Amino acid sequence: MTVLSIQNVSCVYPAAGKAESVHALKNITLDIDSGEFVVALGASGCGKSTLLNMIAGFIAPTEGEITLKGQAVTGPGADRSVVFQKHALLPWLNVLDNVAFGLKIQKKGRAERERIARQFIQLLGLEKFEKSAVYMLSGGMQQRVGIARALTCDPEILLMDEPLGALDALTRERAQELILKIWNDTRKVIFLITHSVEEALFMGTKLIVMSPRPGRVSHVFDLPFSKRYLETGDARAVKASADFIALRERVLELILVDDEGTGHE
Ligand SMILES: Nc1ncnc2c1ncn2[C@@H]1O[C@H](COP(=O)(O)OP(=O)(O)O)[C@@H](O)[C@H]1O
Ligand SMILES: [Mg+2]
Repeated sequence: MTVLSIQNVSCVYPAAGKAESVHALKNITLDIDSGEFVVALGASGCGKSTLLNMIAGFIAPTEGEITLKGQAVTGPGADRSVVFQKHALLPWLNVLDNVAFGLKIQKKGRAERERIARQFIQLLGLEKFEKSAVYMLSGGMQQRVGIARALTCDPEILLMDEPLGALDALTRERAQELILKIWNDTRKVIFLITHSVEEALFMGTKLIVMSPRPGRVSHVFDLPFSKRYLETGDARAVKASADFIALRERVLELILVDDEGTGHE
């Protein structure tokens, strides 16, 4: 079943001051089915965040339409949760209250808030830190708190914009595995943006490779690797397998072509 449908979506940021208008996305069409894990990969500036922000309802398409379960997306909603690279936790609250915060906004009572929050605290392996102040936690643990919070409102789709970009290599690998287990347990649709080809191939069931100026989807690949990891539990073996390496090199070539000569933002 199609959960999210992106139909011929374009985005032009209008000219402002001395800056010219930017054609950030052109004719994006993509259907995302229930249970899918879609990963968007591409050079800096190819419109990945713009696309995610449109799905989230933070910005409206200039042309085209996005529908969630048949309903047009016209603004943010509890059916879509966003996890950013830099967590947006409330430093004066402990882990439990941070995870429960969205439920408080939804005006749920304390007992129910804490019951739901504890389910996700457990899912993310944070039980021992329930009462800890979030600023005391490592970056990887803070990101886990952010993911737990995003899940509490039971969204149809979890949107993640480079959620692991700030983590060191080892923590990042553990976090990839944890997110895959959560995806497998909750069967949520996930849309994740990353700069890392290896991360994209390892995590997604579907990879969209984007190209810049104007931002568009240049290639789509179905991926077998996350399933293989969930069956075997051996992430290194999956990442070292011949078909993984072959596809990694192929996709790297695709995005390196786009990255030539473009500065970083
Ligand atoms: N608010 C904005 N106003 C004007 N241009 C923007 C704005 N946000 C992004 N852009 C431009 O749109 C293009 C796509 O940006 P973005 O979606 O952030 O790409 P990515 O996430 O792939 O790096 C870039 O050229 C960027 O400079
Ligand atoms: Mg971005």
